[in-house]
Amino acid sequence: MNEDPIAKFKAAQKEGWAYFAPLESLTTPSAARLVKFAGVRAGERVLDVACGTGVVAITAARLGAKVDGIDLTPQLLDRARENSRLAEVEINWREGDAEALPFADGEFDVVLSQFGHMFAPRPEVAIREMLRVLKPGGTIAFSTWPPELLIGRSFTLVGSYMPPPPPGVSPPPQWGDPNIVRERLGTAVTEIVFDRDRMNFPALSLPGYRAVIERTAGPMLKLVEMLSASDPARLTQFRREYDALLAPYFENNILRQDYLLTRARKR
Ligand SMILES: C[S@@+](CC[C@H](N)C(=O)[O-])C[C@H]1O[C@@H](n2cnc3c(N)ncnc32)[C@H](O)[C@@H]1O
Repeated sequence: MNEDPIAKFKAAQKEGWAYFAPLESLTTPSAARLVKFAGVRAGERVLDVACGTGVVAITAARLGAKVDGIDLTPQLLDRARENSRLAEVEINWREGDAEALPFADGEFDVVLSQFGHMFAPRPEVAIREMLRVLKPGGTIAFSTWPPELLIGRSFTLVGSYMPPPPPGVSPPPQWGDPNIVRERLGTAVTEIVFDRDRMNFPALSLPGYRAVIERTAGPMLKLVEMLSASDPARLTQFRREYDALLAPYFENNILRQDYLLTRARKR
């Protein structure tokens, strides 16, 4: 058994994300937004980091790019294979870790990640890897959840009910703060550009939305699994707090989920 705390943390994440596939209908439109924002062109070599069911990778491949997609979770890669078969595009899918990319230095013209690399526990390791496999002059672009908005605040709430992560693990929504993003990209890049967009999540009620998220979103799924077994009263309290957090973002049967886009050029 692996006792390395970071490896154990990733193993738990891998289990948690196994049920994410139904949410691909929500991340499909934002995938097109990211691919356009990055300016992907036919013939370019593109890497989709933490690709999930492949929504970004397939969008780039449909433009004629030569695409690799890598993710920690095999169940999502099975779905990605099926999605690329249906889309009639060739993509090299690989199971692997954003913190240890199995590619040579400077292999890619474009490195992308949609709500993905932000879940790698050690940001400095993930970004070093993403920049390593990118060519000088190449484009890195990603979409992330800001800490002060719905999804970022949800992660903070979920985290407050979980045991503390191992030392060195950073909260994912830090990747949604432009100041932190600038710091993490550091002097390795130029021409940093930020933008924002909105994901509209249809829902008939807040408990209805919560039920979907509890079954599909990794960190939430793990929390509910833990509290159902250990402390149902605390689970009830969590759900009450969660619904209160969501309420201001819910209008016209839509949960409003705003996100940050970042693009930069490697020096
Ligand atoms: C919110 S999903 C996003 C999936 C996809 N990019 C999309 O937009 O639909 C987060 C993804 O990050 C992956 N992930 C989490 N930690 C990872 C890591 N260390 N390395 C690679 N993938 C990771 C999960 O398996 C999951 O597919």
